[in-house]
Amino acid sequence: MKKIKRIGILTAGGDAPGLNAAIRAVGKTAIGEHGWEVVGFLRGFTGLIEDNFQLLDARMLSGILTTGGTMLGTSRVKVHRVQTPSGDRDMRDEIVATYRRHQLDALVCIGGGGTQKNALRLIEAGLDVVTLPKTIDNDIACTDDTIGFDTAIGVATEALDRLHSTAHSHHRIIVAEIMGHRAGWLTLGAGIAGGADVILIPEIPYDVKKIAAAINRRSSTGSRFSIVAVAEGAMSLEHAAKLEAAVKAKTSATTSAAKAKAKRRLNEIYGHHAGNTLRLATQLEKLTQLEARVSILGYVQRGGTPSCSDRLLATRLGTAAVDLVRRGRFGMMVASESDEVKAVPVAKVAGNLKMVPRDHRWVEAARRVGTSLGD
Ligand code: F6P
Repeated sequence: MKKIKRIGILTAGGDAPGLNAAIRAVGKTAIGEHGWEVVGFLRGFTGLIEDNFQLLDARMLSGILTTGGTMLGTSRVKVHRVQTPSGDRDMRDEIVATYRRHQLDALVCIGGGGTQKNALRLIEAGLDVVTLPKTIDNDIACTDDTIGFDTAIGVATEALDRLHSTAHSHHRIIVAEIMGHRAGWLTLGAGIAGGADVILIPEIPYDVKKIAAAINRRSSTGSRFSIVAVAEGAMSLEHAAKLEAAVKAKTSATTSAAKAKAKRRLNEIYGHHAGNTLRLATQLEKLTQLEARVSILGYVQRGGTPSCSDRLLATRLGTAAVDLVRRGRFGMMVASESDEVKAVPVAKVAGNLKMVPRDHRWVEAARRVGTSLGD
């Protein structure tokens, strides 16, 4: 087993509460327990490309457990396709060169789906990488929890609580848009905890008439207001059919021109999300005769101080990541399963989204308390 002296660390993708707690856990264990040097790369993989870094010491790691964001900064670059003024460039060689120049023995990458994919590309390029799962969307495969989810679900739940009193006072429908382009964990969890009357998630396409019927039923029994929790990526049955056709076209495309066209179409369909929530509110106004308002929770869900559970998860996973490095178990992500930490190959995680199964126990619980899922 090689002797570890120096490791690199970065945070990539959308920020999430608990990133600093994870950096602190990795850094404090690496420095305090093993005496390793820890090189922090700034703004995610961009720091490795541009060799932009900061040596972390114990003092810098102190006082960050409770802070939001990431002290290292972040970015969303794809290492094999970095946008430059002269076109897209594959930057893997530059990254490998930075890694070697710093004489790193390992690289710890903390991030979501995109980060796991980038990490896999670097593992395939020969680097010794260990990853941690982070995203408020909780959609990373092979782990029960991701760093940031617990805080975000708390923020979204509190927002729904607050929206209740104003919706009730004005006899309005309030459509609250919650983050989650592909997976509906955040909306489903916050929707249940916040008592939303309708919960719409990307995994269950909705029929607007059924939503209106649910709201009208409430009105007829005296509840002349409704809260609709809608995920950014939730879609109507018609929209879902278009998406399915675009996915099929992409899979069956044979020429690169056809592939590019199909990809553009797919991005176009995904890109229409912002308008969907507003359109839904307008449709519901027409179908229910109630006034509707939209509240987009947006980045508030990602900001601020991490919850107790996220600090705990980040500390458990961060310290476990150092153990993997010490034992030479590279190419692995530290995952959480119940109260245990396990190592899963990044190759099994990358490219696999953890979606809400239609028969998941949260879905069942929501239905059993009378919540409409729009289907
Ligand atoms: O962090 C995940 C996520 O919050 C998604 O739910 C959301 O769609 C996306 O990030 C938006 O982030 P950005 O605007 O930073 O790309």
